[in-house]
Amino acid sequence: MLSRYSEVMKEKLIIANWKSHKLEVEVSKWMTEFKQQFQSSELLEFVQLVVAPALPHLHQVKLELPDGVALGAQAVSPFPMGSYTGAVNAQQLKDFGVQYVIVGHSERRRYFHENHQDVAKQVQEVLAQQIKPVLCLDKDYIDEQAATLDSSTLKDCVIAYEPLAAIGTGNNEPVGEVKQVVEQIRDVYGQVPVIYGGSVDQSNIGEYMLISDGALVGGASLDVAQFSQLIEKSLVK
Ligand code: PGA
Repeated sequence: MLSRYSEVMKEKLIIANWKSHKLEVEVSKWMTEFKQQFQSSELLEFVQLVVAPALPHLHQVKLELPDGVALGAQAVSPFPMGSYTGAVNAQQLKDFGVQYVIVGHSERRRYFHENHQDVAKQVQEVLAQQIKPVLCLDKDYIDEQAATLDSSTLKDCVIAYEPLAAIGTGNNEPVGEVKQVVEQIRDVYGQVPVIYGGSVDQSNIGEYMLISDGALVGGASLDVAQFSQLIEKSLVK
């Protein structure tokens, strides 16, 4: 079994982004099934999994995660600890045990009006707490976004290339186009890890793993059976 995966580079990253989905009872069911699949699984030696639930479920997920699977958050305040009603800051996330934070997701930019400056501040807050920012970018603002962050900051991020038209639509971007953008991002940002997000599922994950460092997975992470298959497929060449 081990040899099946042995040629695959370790430290591929797969992030389950649950967005604003699930109630407590559903989280409970997901965690139980996920643990049955992945507790002590050798697959975890080859891929870094991250689960990023909605904030009210962070605690429940933290308690149930198998060893080696990391806890993620989907958003963070651009401000430090202080009088910012409704905001959760990076220090609080760190204190709680969060290891990855998704920043600059297009849904945050579109529906919550986060701009490049906000995103840059979030990245800085997160890095100051030694949490890994997963900085989401679409093709159209790679240069503008890069201009707000210096290169030493950028090299500490994971970049998630997320073409707008591919998110939640079932229209995953062809792998050839993703490869070009991954290369463009590396030209601008240096040798940072770059993952792809946008309608990744068990049928297409394998291709993206060959040309990037992993995937940010929304819809296909909500069901454990589907997500498990996706993880399996991500490791088979
Ligand atoms: P999707 O979402 O997999 O449902 O397209 C990806 C994302 O937005 O992170």
